[in-house]
Amino acid sequence: MRIDIVTLFPEMFAGPFDASIVARARASGAVEVALHDPRAYTTDRHHVVDDYAYGGGPGMVMKPEPLFDCVDAVQAMDQPPGRVVLLTPQGRMLTHAVVRELAAEPRLVVICGHYEGVDERVRSALADDEISIGDYVLSGGEPAAIVLVDAAVRHQPGVLGSQASLEEESHAQGLLEYPQYTRPAEYRGLAVPEVLLSGDHAAVARWRRRQSIERTAARRPDLLARAALTAAERWLLAAAAGASREVSLAEVTVTTPDLERSVMFYAAILGDAGDRLSADRHEFRLQPLVLAIIRSKPERPPAVEADADDERMTFAVDDARAAQVRVRAAGALWVERRVHRRAGARSFFARDPDGNVLCFAEEEPP
Ligand SMILES: C[S@@+](CC[C@H](N)C(=O)[O-])C[C@H]1O[C@@H](n2cnc3c(N)ncnc32)[C@H](O)[C@@H]1O
Repeated sequence: MRIDIVTLFPEMFAGPFDASIVARARASGAVEVALHDPRAYTTDRHHVVDDYAYGGGPGMVMKPEPLFDCVDAVQAMDQPPGRVVLLTPQGRMLTHAVVRELAAEPRLVVICGHYEGVDERVRSALADDEISIGDYVLSGGEPAAIVLVDAAVRHQPGVLGSQASLEEESHAQGLLEYPQYTRPAEYRGLAVPEVLLSGDHAAVARWRRRQSIERTAARRPDLLARAALTAAERWLLAAAAGASREVSLAEVTVTTPDLERSVMFYAAILGDAGDRLSADRHEFRLQPLVLAIIRSKPERPPAVEADADDERMTFAVDDARAAQVRVRAAGALWVERRVHRRAGARSFFARDPDGNVLCFAEEEPP
């Protein structure tokens, strides 16, 4: 990838581009960065690059001619001419997705504004794209260009030691990254979570996933709507957030053809024998949740509707009829037409948009 930066202050890039990953990427040829001063493209004796704003007002505006001439000359230096990016606090936000998009370009020509900004014709007739690095105003586009180059360079093949770090980092999957620790295992009385020392890779992966989701929910709930979460993860999040006081998660059901084996498994995990309620149902009371293990019929045809044998999550509700209206309105795939009295509780079944079976019950879960 080639990045040309049009700047009145090329000296500002000396440190940031000569150290760490950007320097290594340049040395390896993964990215080529060139700096161009529009002052060199002025034709007057004093090399003037700015002028007063038409209509008055404070500050100077960067003139169009040096910028147009500079960009024209830079584009002619190599093929392809490249996408021209104007850095401006009025541009689209430089998010992870935008970085990926820009990093996939073979060439970028990045214009750094200064003073009160650039003549509007640069924006309308020279720039292909306008990028902002945040909702605040910098004195010039140079720090923004450094940010853009650093972020884009990380996406060039071979620049990071491991591709996995790119995929696991914050924002890569719409989530913030899990907490990271290194040695020592204990420092000033602060211990590294035991699971990370266990050597159990599956347990570490589960812990990290959970931390990542919980962190995102706590710090950046706005990201969750577009994050790649499973249906179960979304339900658990909603329950943890106490999504509604009228509705709370009451029961999780696991169906199994081998009830004894399953009960032994959960009893061992939970350290609790649980209660056998019938030949086909065993319950673990995990306040406020009930985990119910139910013997499934040996073979069941693929269900369209749902019935009492389905694996499901049960929600306690104040009013089943009101909940039915709400569940239907929320876009359920299927909602049972009537509310039934099952095991003493008025309840109905529904399928969420992914087809998972849910039960909404007024009193004790059926
Ligand atoms: C002082 S700013 C001009 C701001 C301009 N008067 C406005 O209100 O939109 C000078 C230059 O810094 C750069 N700049 C400032 N804030 C930026 C941001 N958040 N993202 C990207 N570039 C920025 C732009 O290149 C801009 O032309």
